Amino acid sequence: MSDNRAQFGTKLGVIATTVGSAVGLGNIWRFPYEAGTHGGGAFLLIYIFFIFVIGVPVICAEFIMGRSTRRNIFGAFRMLHTRRQWAWIGYMGILASILILSFYSVVAGWTLEYLGQSAAGIVASTDGVAGNGGGFDDFSTGWRPVMWTLIFLAFNAVIVLRGVRKGIEKASNILMPVLFLLLLAFCVNSLFMSGAKEGLEFLFKPDFSKVDSSVLIGALGQAFFSLSIGLGTMMIYSSYFSEETPLVKSAALTASLDTLVAILAGVIIFPAVFIFNCEPAAGPKLVFEVLPEIFHQLPGGVVWSTLFFFLLFLASLTSTISMSEICVAFFCEQLGLSRRRAALLNTAIAMGLGTLCAMSFGSLSGLKIFGLTIFNLFDYAASNIMLPLGGMLISVFVGWFIDRNVVKAQLKGTGTISEGFLRLIVFSLKYVAPAGIGLVFLAGLGII
Ligand code: PFF
Repeated sequence: MSDNRAQFGTKLGVIATTVGSAVGLGNIWRFPYEAGTHGGGAFLLIYIFFIFVIGVPVICAEFIMGRSTRRNIFGAFRMLHTRRQWAWIGYMGILASILILSFYSVVAGWTLEYLGQSAAGIVASTDGVAGNGGGFDDFSTGWRPVMWTLIFLAFNAVIVLRGVRKGIEKASNILMPVLFLLLLAFCVNSLFMSGAKEGLEFLFKPDFSKVDSSVLIGALGQAFFSLSIGLGTMMIYSSYFSEETPLVKSAALTASLDTLVAILAGVIIFPAVFIFNCEPAAGPKLVFEVLPEIFHQLPGGVVWSTLFFFLLFLASLTSTISMSEICVAFFCEQLGLSRRRAALLNTAIAMGLGTLCAMSFGSLSGLKIFGLTIFNLFDYAASNIMLPLGGMLISVFVGWFIDRNVVKAQLKGTGTISEGFLRLIVFSLKYVAPAGIGLVFLAGLGII
């Protein structure tokens, strides 16, 4: 094990960085639009079930592999098993990280536009973004999203280049709690809006008659996307953990905080969706159309809006630096590139693909593959297929193929954990998580 590897400095640093990776646009942008498209309450319940029954064990599995090997996903599989085929899961994780970075940066770019406009005092207007009367649709079909995508990726590259501890840890420690407080404040505001009831019922009253295989796939994909699992992010982060970090507790805490933020976002958005007559199933643009309406109602709306989009931009950055880390660690540790070159290569690829994603709302909107635009295809393939598949294989690997003593030693760490609890986690990894994910896939394929 290499001792000179960077490590996260403090306990708070560990939680702040894993939560920093987990909490981002996935909670505040993707969760409301997925819940809105898939009927609300029932989706939320199924989502929470997947987070804790499948997600938490998979985070533990990634932590076990990462800390025991102190390698990136590809190197971890190589080190723990002689069969080379396992490393293909690593390739899939790296591909998924690049696809996600590409479309995610487009949405992060939208937040930059909204930030710029609110700072100029315009966004909190019912005229829509830029106050030009055209709203989100006009903006998203133009050239500005491409520019913002590239600017966002440049920011991301700067932080990734500064290395693990300094850049990532410092930023997340301070900013995540501030974002959380701001969300709480917006939440209280939404709860007191007159007419909030309809939106809250939509979010919290499950109607199981609306559940079909697409809801199951959507909820599973959202759980994996939101927890940043199935592609090696939690694995690479845990490779920087110290031996004292309690793995199970950290996994449970990360999942709980992440879920809390998603629910807060839902409580902020859905009352407004119904009050302002928006369409819950509007898709990716949902939050960007609804939030300005909320800010418009608030006294000092421009200030709130500026603060919010600034923090959302930073929350996106703490997520994108984690997904970049997968690829950068792979380029450095497996291909022998310098960190600088690795980060530049990762950024160049994402800039190319991100441009295509940004244009898929405008000039490339007619280009459909499997009936999906490039943006939606990247999102669907990575979130709903690659991440759950990666998670399934990672849990099978840790449950069945790694020396049980390694698993136990990692879960115990320097603390104590009951034998029964250990068995429960191993049981989840061996049977529950793989079977659960497998069943959702079979349902998706129409086999059950
Ligand atoms: N979990 C992040 C979010 O919810 O915004 C997205 C994400 C980060 C996905 C890192 C995958 C990843 F590796």
